[in-house]
Amino acid sequence: MAGLPTLSDPAPGRGRSPARARSPATPRKGPSRGGWPTALVEWFQREARPLPWRETRDPYRILVAEVLLQQTRVDQALPFYHRFLRRFPTLDALARAREPSVLKAWEGAGYYARARHLHALARTLVREQGGRFPRSARELSTLPGVGPYTSRAVAALAFGERVVALDSNGVRVLSRLELSKGGPAELGERADRALGELPPRAFNEALMEFGQRYCLPRRPRCRECPLRGECLAVRKLADPGVFPPRRPAPARVREEEGRGVLVSPGGRVLLHRRPSRGLLGGLWELPGGRIRAGEEPRSGVVRTWKASTGIATRVVAELGRLEQEYSHRHVVVHVFQLAARGRVPQEVASARWVRASDLPRLALPRVVHRMRPWIEEVLRRHRAGEEGTPGSFAPGRVKRNPRGPFGRGGNGA
Ligand code: ADE
Repeated sequence: MAGLPTLSDPAPGRGRSPARARSPATPRKGPSRGGWPTALVEWFQREARPLPWRETRDPYRILVAEVLLQQTRVDQALPFYHRFLRRFPTLDALARAREPSVLKAWEGAGYYARARHLHALARTLVREQGGRFPRSARELSTLPGVGPYTSRAVAALAFGERVVALDSNGVRVLSRLELSKGGPAELGERADRALGELPPRAFNEALMEFGQRYCLPRRPRCRECPLRGECLAVRKLADPGVFPPRRPAPARVREEEGRGVLVSPGGRVLLHRRPSRGLLGGLWELPGGRIRAGEEPRSGVVRTWKASTGIATRVVAELGRLEQEYSHRHVVVHVFQLAARGRVPQEVASARWVRASDLPRLALPRVVHRMRPWIEEVLRRHRAGEEGTPGSFAPGRVKRNPRGPFGRGGNGA
């Protein structure tokens, strides 16, 4: 690379790996000769964290990382990344898998559409391209579900294409360094110019990592910043943290839901599979649904249970209440034990009667994991023929314990 012999993309797992060449950051006082892009890559080569997707050029592993990292922070993503790749170590393995096991392997990472899209992509690549990834961002972007960011990230990181993938970190870093309010097109041009002859893998990883460690969204660490001498926002703004201007986050909508545990005579509980598309698509949950304004939770759970399963029930006991945050919603969930008003059918559309021992095999949303102790205790008591099993309370009387009937759980537990 002309003029910059020291700034090369290290081979994965050997040579001058950024992870191995560490020394403390030295904040620069004035502009460096190569400008901020060179200073950024030099910083990265001194200080980069050792992350597993930096040790590989396998496009599949890099794709999994990029998809996971779109909505999940690096430290949170790591365990999911390792678990998913242990379960599906190759594109072929993922393509052969059935959707429920893909969702199970993604369980807890959230935004499950990402897992379904990865799965669909693996199948397309194996079926139509013999399992080979296209090598350019342009070709990658023609694949289903692969947007401009992901295609560029895979092209640059796996194949060394000279392109820049701008995620929200990259946009913030670039906007501040160059004090630019430009939209995606202008920032894209600036990023290409900044990349110049620098090594594309290191440059892309450096932009992302710098945004995660120094150029933080609200409170950038400008005093210690190794690029402060290069940064127009530091030079010109009293508070670089307010730049670029942010859209205010939409307020979370508060909703209430009623969910019900109904035990079959054989000691199984009915779980409902959510539609494949949409929030938590394909995961298993207790039947029930949204409570209307002004509706009592116990009427709401009976109404929504009937609507989703066709089964008429009554409330036997309130098991507890918990609250769960989603990206745009704050949901208060009231959980009840129910009894059927007639015989329960064996077959219920989109639902399955499950034993306690089946629960670990099913992909469950986090909120259902939080209810599991209640579900398991109801099943245990049913087996033991104890109080709290259907029919053991006077009809219509509700035994209420807001902390949960078994002394745990409750709000936020
Ligand atoms: N965020 C998104 N992609 C990333 C990557 N490859 N390395 C670190 N952080 C990231």
